Amino acid sequence: MSDAAGEPRVVVAADPAALADAAAAIVRRGIARAIEARGACHLALAGGRTPKGVYERLAAAGDPAIDWTRVHAAFGDERFVPPDHPESNYAMARAALLDRVPVPPTQVLRVRGESQDVEAAADAYGASLATAFGLAAGAWPVFDIVLLGIGADGHTASLFPHTPVLHERRRIAAAVEAPVTPSRRVTLTFPVLNAGRAVLILASGADKAPAVARALAPEGDADATPVRAIRPAAGTLTWLLDAAAAAALPPRAADAGRG
Ligand code: 6PG
Repeated sequence: MSDAAGEPRVVVAADPAALADAAAAIVRRGIARAIEARGACHLALAGGRTPKGVYERLAAAGDPAIDWTRVHAAFGDERFVPPDHPESNYAMARAALLDRVPVPPTQVLRVRGESQDVEAAADAYGASLATAFGLAAGAWPVFDIVLLGIGADGHTASLFPHTPVLHERRRIAAAVEAPVTPSRRVTLTFPVLNAGRAVLILASGADKAPAVARALAPEGDADATPVRAIRPAAGTLTWLLDAAAAAALPPRAADAGRG
């Protein structure tokens, strides 16, 4: 987790499988701690390919055991496609995890990608989170664990370089037009992601190494590398990398805690 100065912790695993093992162990401990402390755990799940192995490992029995009936899941972002579409983040998480553990369906919040109006879907998703968290007006949902990935361009969730949503400070979720397909998406905004108690950014593969190095450099432009703006206000930030994704980091950037 972040160190005392609030600097991110960087954990480097040898390869994608070791990364998934390390990430699953950290998430499993985080879920157990949240349930012990507050009787429930609110997870914001990442999309894309990287987290699939983590979800599969979480679905398997492990230590500590997880009382999934106390887990609530939502998504950091979603492609605006139907929930059974091969590009749906919900479909991926459902197959890898949610259909394999007893999380009550009423505790899984997703973007209605099957609807016709992406702006309305973003508003509805934000409203469903506000209700689920019992928010007062203007408050942000505080996830216990926020899982994120990073694109080779330095985006995270669907917060892409040089897009207006990077500066959204009022809405919980927003509709965006991404420079990749599927282009229509809904994303949580930075205030929500940075409200997380424990934020974990996963990166695997050599193609991510330049963006990881830009993200962790002392100086840089968050509009060009949006993941730089992931700076939890009070929570912890942990980067979970495999060796290929960490390859462009200066030698001391990785903690001794190599996973
Ligand atoms: C998405 C994700 C996105 C993803 C990165 C990395 O909907 O695509 O939320 O932010 O985390 O693009 O994707 P990979 O893990 O597939 O490399």
